Amino acid sequence: MKFIHISDLHFHMHEEDNSQTTATLKYIERHYPQHNLIITGDIADDGHEEQFHRAFEALEPFQGRIFICPGNHDFGAAGNFYSQERAERFDTMLSIPLKQGGTFTGDQTPVVNLLREGDLKIMLIALDTNLETDHPFDFACGEVGERQLRFLDTILSDPFSQAFKKLLFFHHHPFIHHDPLMELTDARQLMRTIYNRVDVVLFGHKHVMGRWENVNGIAHILASDNSPGKDFAREIIITQDQPIAVNDIAIS
Ligand SMILES: [Fe+2]
Repeated sequence: MKFIHISDLHFHMHEEDNSQTTATLKYIERHYPQHNLIITGDIADDGHEEQFHRAFEALEPFQGRIFICPGNHDFGAAGNFYSQERAERFDTMLSIPLKQGGTFTGDQTPVVNLLREGDLKIMLIALDTNLETDHPFDFACGEVGERQLRFLDTILSDPFSQAFKKLLFFHHHPFIHHDPLMELTDARQLMRTIYNRVDVVLFGHKHVMGRWENVNGIAHILASDNSPGKDFAREIIITQDQPIAVNDIAIS
């Protein structure tokens, strides 16, 4: 099974401001019709209704093979000020119509999707790492939260999960130790929870590509830059018997 990881699309209100983003998505749609698409948040630039509308129009063709999670810009103006109204909009205008199999706002539980192809079983786990807070700096750096961590631990502990290859994705950066405004406040608890228990971790937020192999007992940890207008994105190929492969593939 093949996946493409992109991130931080930052859809704007006006069509003319989204030309790079729509060109990138059209390229992916045309060249990779069999790939699943994972978008690690900041799909809208500040959570305005018209931005989510534009995003849905561009993402609808991927229906059935698209998996998303929210970023700080989806839930708040300038990515710094949490707004419940904008957060709910992410679910009503994207998560639900794009059939994510769950919603992100409020309940603080991971959204899980199970994919099967022959003997291959893949579990996709999406987290909402936005902190529902009034403090602008806390919000930009993000948090998984105790409740969501507990659910994640329960999912990973369940004997049912053992037969699945696990791909975990979220928006915020889990380990930039020198940048407190970028790192999740509970990054250490997250890494402890997933140690040796997931196969791939994907995130965005910082707009810089990154790749770590066999760190924290995880085969591949990948950071995506802001994909619109970029030359390449990462492709992840998961098979039943072979090690997971990660490649750079053209997106323009
Ligand atoms: Fe972000």
